[in-house]
Amino acid sequence: MFNFDFYNPTRVLFGVDRIADIDKFIPKQARVLITYGGGSAKKYGTLDEVHAALGDRATFEFGGIEVNPHFDTLMKAVDVVKDNKIDFLLAVGGGSVVDGTKFIAAAALYAGDIWPLWSQRQPLKEAIPLGCVMTLPATGSETNHVAVVTHTALGQKSGYSDPLLFPQFAVLDPTKTYTLPATQVANGVVDAFIHVIEQYLTYPVYGKVQDRFAEGLLLTLIEEGPKALTDPQNYDVRSAITWSATLALNGLIAVGVPQDWATHRMGHQLTALYGIDHAQTLAILLPGLLQVQRESKKQKLLQYAERVWNIHAGSDDSRIDAAIAKTREFFELMGLKTQLSAYGQPKSAIDEILGNLQRFNMLPMGERSDIDLERAKQILMLSY
Ligand code: NZQ
Ligand code: ZN
Repeated sequence: MFNFDFYNPTRVLFGVDRIADIDKFIPKQARVLITYGGGSAKKYGTLDEVHAALGDRATFEFGGIEVNPHFDTLMKAVDVVKDNKIDFLLAVGGGSVVDGTKFIAAAALYAGDIWPLWSQRQPLKEAIPLGCVMTLPATGSETNHVAVVTHTALGQKSGYSDPLLFPQFAVLDPTKTYTLPATQVANGVVDAFIHVIEQYLTYPVYGKVQDRFAEGLLLTLIEEGPKALTDPQNYDVRSAITWSATLALNGLIAVGVPQDWATHRMGHQLTALYGIDHAQTLAILLPGLLQVQRESKKQKLLQYAERVWNIHAGSDDSRIDAAIAKTREFFELMGLKTQLSAYGQPKSAIDEILGNLQRFNMLPMGERSDIDLERAKQILMLSY
């Protein structure tokens, strides 16, 4: 196992009717900006609950943070923060709202254009404190220090992380997820699943604890994901999915082990170029990536086949083939398509995506930094 620091300061407020408890964790004198997305938080009453919990505090709202949040929109929120002397941010929504709010927290206290710092992943000196009420289990953004923002003018979707961006608290009420459309439920399950895969399916370093946690999360998502589609108001199912998505990307299973993230890096290009949902891009790319990387991931692929998919018989190659096929079947069972061509993109998309990977210095990728331009092309050809 590699050396590591484990730091996760986010308080989780899990369960039904927990929004009222945010009162204890926001200073009484705080001037709070509530951020939200396209309207689901308002429509389903979550914003009203948040206002009630905030009581007499000075509160302001910024709505309209879009899916895959945009730099330009978020900079408008930065103006609201400055004009109103906001000193606490409260995100209410899915990963896009939480990520966008992390960006606002950073940009509002930064003098000058923050994009160069963000896209080159330079550290922050300060950020406004934030908390969140999560309504979509998927990204893990609620308890991590990562945020992904799109600069549309540059065509760049850029991930960033800084310890100052951990939310101070995250409200996780599984009943808030009952109103999600089936597509978002499926996206969330697949995104969380692939977060685990990116940290687990690399090469062995005797990370036994991390492996067993990861396998537990994968099995939970495989068992519970389809149930959330057929039995949407089942609290136990929603709880299991909500907690799995959080633990999949709160740093716990990442410590001390190699990490891949090539599927995510390439996936961000598919979203930036074609607007394909984040999880859908991952479902397109992962099976092809596992195929191309099957030699360097061989030991973990065999472990994954055995422990996650119960595949015990046959040659090494046939067990790996079966595990990759099962992975693809699971995404399709959840309702996600697993080929880029199914989204109506022409084959020239492959060159466009490769161009982005070069332009934004994404190469080489993978846990061994062995995915160069040629291998990225092979992955994209198989994913088309
Ligand atoms: O905008 P509203 O009206 O709220 O509707 C949203 C949106 O249309 C809707 N929704 C959310 N909660 C709902 C609901 N609808 C009904 N009932 C509810 N309870 O769902 C739609 C999608 O929301 P979004 O926040 O975009 O989805 P998600 O949570 O999947 O976030 C995706 C973003 O997170 C980034 C992605 O790249 C993408 O930009 N990621 C962030 C990560 C992180 N911070 O660690 C890691 C991930 O790998 C990912 O990259
Ligand atoms: Zn993801």
